[in-house]
Amino acid sequence: ASIHDQKLVRREGGELHQIAGPGDETLTTAQGGPVLDDQNSLKAGARGPTLLEDFHFREKIFHFDHERIPERVVHARGYAAHGFFENYKSQAKYTRADLFQRAGERTPAFVRFSTVAGSKGSFDLARDVRGFAVKLYTQEGNWDIVGNNIPVFFIQDAIKFPDLIHAVKEEPDSAFPQAQSAHDNFWDFISLTPESMHMIMWVMSDRALPRSFRFMEGFGVHTFRLVNAKDESTFIKFHWKPKLGLQSVLWNEAVKINGADPDFHRRDLWTAIQSGNYPEWELQVQLFNQDFADKFDFDVLDPTKIIPEELLPPIPIGRLVLDRMPDNFFAETEQVAFMTQNVPPGIDFSNDPLLQGRNFSYLDTQLKRLGGPNFTHLPINAPKCPFAHFQQDGHMAMRNPVGRANYQPNSFGLGPRESVAKGFRSFADIEDGAKRRLRPESFADHYSQARQFFISQTEGEQQHIAAALTFELSKVKTPVIRERMVSHLLNIDEVLAGKVGEMLGLRKMPKPADAAVATRHDLEASPALSIVTN
Ligand code: HEM
Repeated sequence: ASIHDQKLVRREGGELHQIAGPGDETLTTAQGGPVLDDQNSLKAGARGPTLLEDFHFREKIFHFDHERIPERVVHARGYAAHGFFENYKSQAKYTRADLFQRAGERTPAFVRFSTVAGSKGSFDLARDVRGFAVKLYTQEGNWDIVGNNIPVFFIQDAIKFPDLIHAVKEEPDSAFPQAQSAHDNFWDFISLTPESMHMIMWVMSDRALPRSFRFMEGFGVHTFRLVNAKDESTFIKFHWKPKLGLQSVLWNEAVKINGADPDFHRRDLWTAIQSGNYPEWELQVQLFNQDFADKFDFDVLDPTKIIPEELLPPIPIGRLVLDRMPDNFFAETEQVAFMTQNVPPGIDFSNDPLLQGRNFSYLDTQLKRLGGPNFTHLPINAPKCPFAHFQQDGHMAMRNPVGRANYQPNSFGLGPRESVAKGFRSFADIEDGAKRRLRPESFADHYSQARQFFISQTEGEQQHIAAALTFELSKVKTPVIRERMVSHLLNIDEVLAGKVGEMLGLRKMPKPADAAVATRHDLEASPALSIVTN
């Protein structure tokens, strides 16, 4: 097979794939012209200058010059595989989504795992959150569950996402890669963002150093909705549980692995799948209604909170198996576009302000990353069900409306029509209230679940958290940031705070962060967290 040629091929089942096709006998230009000599440019005389008319040279270099596309603004480093989701039994009681109607039904899947902060060329075992993005090619369009391996998030509102990511990525002056060691900006932001404390406990735990993607959980994070044929809604949380169980490496193992083999996780997935050890996850869900949600002090719309599994045990509803590596990394893993807004009828959003912002962000960023509005024409992003619409033109359009009418309604009976029976119908939730930039009181407790997570860990795991916090904060040069972090830890667990404070060599322990100040989100009085020492 030659590598100069990307072809669209059809596999069994009619699926289109973009892969390196078998080459022609003769090397050609992209325009199909046969090439005489691919080793020497055209020159005036044996030692003369290269001639502008050498179209083969110019085309070859031009194409090479444009090989790179922007890496993802976050989750740049990733690795993906194909597989399927299998539904255990009908969930028609809860949802009208077609993929959940029949027992044993399989839906093709494409899953991309990623780190968040590092660039495309960074190493796999950074202490970081892992992306767990699942695209399900359902008969009613693509459904993307764009999740992480940690069930909560740093922030409660999408408007803070650019600040979080600016703070975690390299600092603008030094441009130091930071994925492995801490730096002031990240901990400055975190220490000024008390809502991040629960997430920070997870990120400082062994969860942030997975042994491989195959030993990792995945979470939809937000509360979503299922909606059934009678338009009744049930809240849902999505969890992917690995069949192999959950395993992590230790920090000093991670550091060595990163040095010896920065591709450790992708090599693991490649090797497992190529040798027939197909990784598998069970989809488990927590289902609840508004009355159940109202019993908690926290808000189910707050993405910094979990619903404890002891109170609401997850129910298994299906399994995800990954059994085929992409044929081409760029065509599939790099160009795949996941977006939270992709939901089929029967799945719907909640008012989680992080989710609502994400629904804008993914489409927007992919317009730029993938070079225009036609990225759904790429085989990896195209639906695998029948589809028909009147969108046309734009950069790289591969499909356009056929025939006379490219609009609707039209008088000629041409083209697709809306369907009351099949169309996506948003859940008719009732909303009212004044427009305000205010966060509700129900989003105000930032420490209780952080504490619950910490005390749920074994003694050894707790030590890892203390060691990770000490290591990270010891890299922070600005004393007030360290102290502010310890003042938050005091609200989570005094022993932990004491240990970290001591290992950091703090001269005086700060007072616990003022939870009342820390939880004020009204813009009229935005929190300037000050540090009070005894
Ligand atoms: C990419 C998860 C919050 C913006 C991703 C990816 C994952 C992910 C898994 C990688 C997708 C892939 O493999 O291509 C999450 C989770 C979040 C979260 C679980 C919180 C619960 C946010 C927020 C925003 C955001 C709040 C912005 C408001 C983005 C962007 C990308 C991305 C712009 C790059 C997409 C691309 O270029 O294809 N996120 N994210 N994310 N996320 Fe998020």
